[in-house]
Amino acid sequence: MAQERNFDTICDSDVTVAAEFLKSGQVVAIPTETVYGLACNAFDEYAVSEVFRLKSRPFFDPLIVHVSQSYNLRGLISEIPPKANLLIEAFWPGPLTVLLPKTNKVPDLVTSGLPHVAVRMPSHPTTQALLSIIDFPLAAPSANPFGYVSPTDASHVIHHFKGRIPFVLDGGPCEVGLESTIVGFDGDSVIIYRLGGLEVESIRKVVGEVTVNAISSSNPSAPGMLKSHYAPRVPLVIGSPVDYIEKLLGKRGAYITAKDTSPVSGFDVVPLSISGDDTEAARNLFRVLRILDDEKYAIIVAEEMPDFGLFRAVNDRLKRAASRD
Ligand code: TXA
Ligand code: MG
Repeated sequence: MAQERNFDTICDSDVTVAAEFLKSGQVVAIPTETVYGLACNAFDEYAVSEVFRLKSRPFFDPLIVHVSQSYNLRGLISEIPPKANLLIEAFWPGPLTVLLPKTNKVPDLVTSGLPHVAVRMPSHPTTQALLSIIDFPLAAPSANPFGYVSPTDASHVIHHFKGRIPFVLDGGPCEVGLESTIVGFDGDSVIIYRLGGLEVESIRKVVGEVTVNAISSSNPSAPGMLKSHYAPRVPLVIGSPVDYIEKLLGKRGAYITAKDTSPVSGFDVVPLSISGDDTEAARNLFRVLRILDDEKYAIIVAEEMPDFGLFRAVNDRLKRAASRD
């Protein structure tokens, strides 16, 4: 294996510097409205393989390709089903990723050999500015080691990749805070493979009924949606703190709730939103999980979130974080 290079990592908001690194085949962290990504030229197979290596990501877990507002999708995909077009019109740029049949130009490494490529147009202004001055799309997974909580701030990326990549493009804290919603198409059917920053309700308003198929760990059309993911090192369970008092063993527990809740003995209560707002809860989730991933806690207990809007995706992430499979 190649010797790891030791970079003097720069963290800055200058897109021209980021563009120069990317043009020379380097890996650069980029902000998006959902989470930070670890990006490279999607057509450069060596750079793509570096992204997998840096994340310790298995090659069976494909990458999302990010495009600018003026990018001609024909370079990446061979066909756009009518419902995909409707969703793209309604929600791009934004937290929506679509799975579409790829052209030969997209390296098989990017799609893990699958016939579809995942494409998204991020809305973050810094990354749109970056994409507008390079003439290739960016392959980018979330900028965290494989299986860990996704980064929602440049400081989270620095924590993981300082010295290992040359540049972190700083775009401030991520507004949405959860990864994009991933949607695929089968004939006239619309299938949601990953719940995310775009609510199911909004998608239904545009294309009617959709199937949510985001639970399984062994779904062949979505190999990366592993059951155990987004996990802090402190054990996380879903339930009620009173059932876990005996697990504290002299330490404290943390209790994640949807909204402000009365104190619980032995636990620090951490509401994702004071008022129970789903958008605010989504924005806070990964930041809160990172803060609570501290050895002063014996356990993190999360209550089951309400079943609407972005709380659904919050629940999905908490369940995967709780899974030890
Ligand atoms: O919001 C996001 O989507 C962020 C930002 C950086 O854009 N990216 C992100 O990437 O969450 P990542 O790699 O952590 O998750 C992407 C998931 C993969 O785990 C995989 O399951 C799915 O997208 N995916 C990507 N390409 C696919 C493909 N060709 N077919 C099926 N699933 C695919
Ligand atoms: Mg990820």
